[in-house]
Amino acid sequence: MPKTLPKSLPRPSPDEIDPFRPARVQSGVLPARFAGEPIPMILRHAEVRRAAKDWQTFSSDAPMRVPIPSEEAVRSVRQLPIEADPPLHGQFRDLLKPVFLRPLQPAYQARLDRLVAGLIDAAVARPRIEVVRDFALPLQSRALALLLGMPDAAAEEWIGWGTHVFHDGGDGDGSARGQGLDRYIRRALAAASGRGGDDVFALLQRAEVAGRRLTTDEQVGIANLAFAGGRDTVIHTVSRIVAHFAGHRAELETIWPDPRRIAFATEEFVRFVSPLTHIGRVCPEPTEVGGEPVAADGRVSLCWASANRDETVFDRPDEIRLDRSPNPHLGFGSGIHTCLGAAQARAILRSLIHHLGARTRAITILGEERQYDEQDSYRRWVGYRALDVAMEART
Ligand code: HEM
Repeated sequence: MPKTLPKSLPRPSPDEIDPFRPARVQSGVLPARFAGEPIPMILRHAEVRRAAKDWQTFSSDAPMRVPIPSEEAVRSVRQLPIEADPPLHGQFRDLLKPVFLRPLQPAYQARLDRLVAGLIDAAVARPRIEVVRDFALPLQSRALALLLGMPDAAAEEWIGWGTHVFHDGGDGDGSARGQGLDRYIRRALAAASGRGGDDVFALLQRAEVAGRRLTTDEQVGIANLAFAGGRDTVIHTVSRIVAHFAGHRAELETIWPDPRRIAFATEEFVRFVSPLTHIGRVCPEPTEVGGEPVAADGRVSLCWASANRDETVFDRPDEIRLDRSPNPHLGFGSGIHTCLGAAQARAILRSLIHHLGARTRAITILGEERQYDEQDSYRRWVGYRALDVAMEART
């Protein structure tokens, strides 16, 4: 029996929507702590972008330490290409581009459209649907199977991993789940050895960088990121788009028939939701950011979520303006590590907006439980733990 969610919650407070505002306006840096480690958060748009481009000072060559908090407990391999600097980073990124740019092909988009339309049709056929687990999670996992060239059946197993590969479920520090993912990837790589095909595991077995085969740890690190990155980020953004259009039907009616408007709206949702609050960099030399000292080997945070609310860049940053232009948001990052899955994320979100408009007449929120990014130094609303809605078919 599904639990009954509170029907309507008080609006999130300004602090929960943009907890970085006071520090961003005052100094541009929040001297935050994560698990006892001092990590200054860089908050202003221009400075976040500058730091993202300066990989010599703010390095990603830091296995397990690019995410904040660090992921030593949940994995044993460096994720690639995200935890590497040039030239290694570029070699791995180039290798992966053909896979990650598949969503730009019309045939791929048509398959994704069928997937999204099918999920919405299934949702409208039911009196109510829990959007996070019964809609956004299957959508993310089945779309990932398309991207990675894997059969649909594979996605059904990934759906069972929940909304976060390491941290969804009662596994304490996530280490058991991390080991499970590692075993899954190593088994899939072994099974792909010597067989042809275009699925990601077969490609990784054949792949070369700089004239050599990949080590097993490199193969595992690439696959690990493909499964872990782009999971809760996509799920939160999908859920928040559904919730937004429940309350703003007229906006959806204007947008859904027009691919150009859909593209603008998608960028605005990524800016507004900023589902990845921030990411870390390691400083090889002592430095300082906004007057905060950083010791050699210390970390800083590039706070995309704060940069995306920078009032010197975005007019009325706390409003969702679906035709916002220009919209130089940093939701997908900036610089050499700019999200490699952005084409996939955009394809999913654009298709979602179109088919929500084309296939539903109304969406009603029946209950919601919010999910917060809760840290010692801030508490930020990112999405939903659960979102019950009723979708009415457009007849
Ligand atoms: C709305 C959804 C998404 C958001 C907001 C997002 C955000 C980001 C951000 C901010 C970065 C930059 C990290 C850095 O500078 O260190 C990044 C990198 C990356 N993302 Fe995404 N992402 C999303 C979806 C995806 C998806 C769907 C995938 C894959 C299926 C993916 C795979 C990656 C990879 C592989 C990188 C590393 C790129 C590199 O190091 O060159 N992301 N993402």
